[in-house]
Amino acid sequence: MSLSMRRTLIAGNWKMNGSLAANASLLAGILSDRSTSSAQLAVCVPALYLAQAQSVLSGSHVLWGAQDVSAHEKGAFTGEVSAQMLVEFGCSCVIIGHSERRSYHAESDELVAQKAQRALASRLIPIVCVGETLEEREQDATNAVVSRQLAPVLDAVGTQLGSIVIAYEPVWAIGTGKTATPDMAQQVHARIRAMLAERDAESAQQVRILYGGSMKPDNARELLAMPDIDGGLIGGASLNALDFLAIANSA
Ligand code: PGA
Repeated sequence: MSLSMRRTLIAGNWKMNGSLAANASLLAGILSDRSTSSAQLAVCVPALYLAQAQSVLSGSHVLWGAQDVSAHEKGAFTGEVSAQMLVEFGCSCVIIGHSERRSYHAESDELVAQKAQRALASRLIPIVCVGETLEEREQDATNAVVSRQLAPVLDAVGTQLGSIVIAYEPVWAIGTGKTATPDMAQQVHARIRAMLAERDAESAQQVRILYGGSMKPDNARELLAMPDIDGGLIGGASLNALDFLAIANSA
């Protein structure tokens, strides 16, 4: 159990999956849950489906958000989606700096920081992703990598530190079925919280640090039991309502 007042957040990252029909049944499945999990639920859907999420989820206990946002406010940025547009479609949160964006779209630590700042300026909760590759872990560089990724974000968010969410997602665990052990994850989460505390001790206790990377119903409970693991960012398992709910219910 978390020793703090941080409310567990279970956020689904649908990635580039779904269709109007599939989303309708997935969202209906999530909404049909009658259990009394204390976790906060969110789904981060492809931008085109935000209108659908808004229409299905408005007034429910499930939040929704996007998977990326432009660092710019508006203007000549073909293909981009602005934070204000996300707000207009009722988003509460947005994933920023996912490792797939960092590797396939060459997003730098600085760009990730600008996006986090842009999200906060529109009162969106940025879910900022950090995490090392297998090679970096084998070189014992995990802490150095996570610190390097996080430092510009912490500079950019400044006094709004308490309003962000961080997701620790070891790249080697994403979509691979390999999970960090609870102890491995806890070590990095504690290190991240210590980094936050160097900036602002009080806010550091408020920030939720999610674990992501092959979190499933059968490993969620022990991960979520660690003192600095405050929730999960769920990829594959978030596409199945029963699995997603089972994870939330193990919090
Ligand atoms: P996964 O993805 O749960 O499928 O490993 C997690 C993520 O990439 O956010």
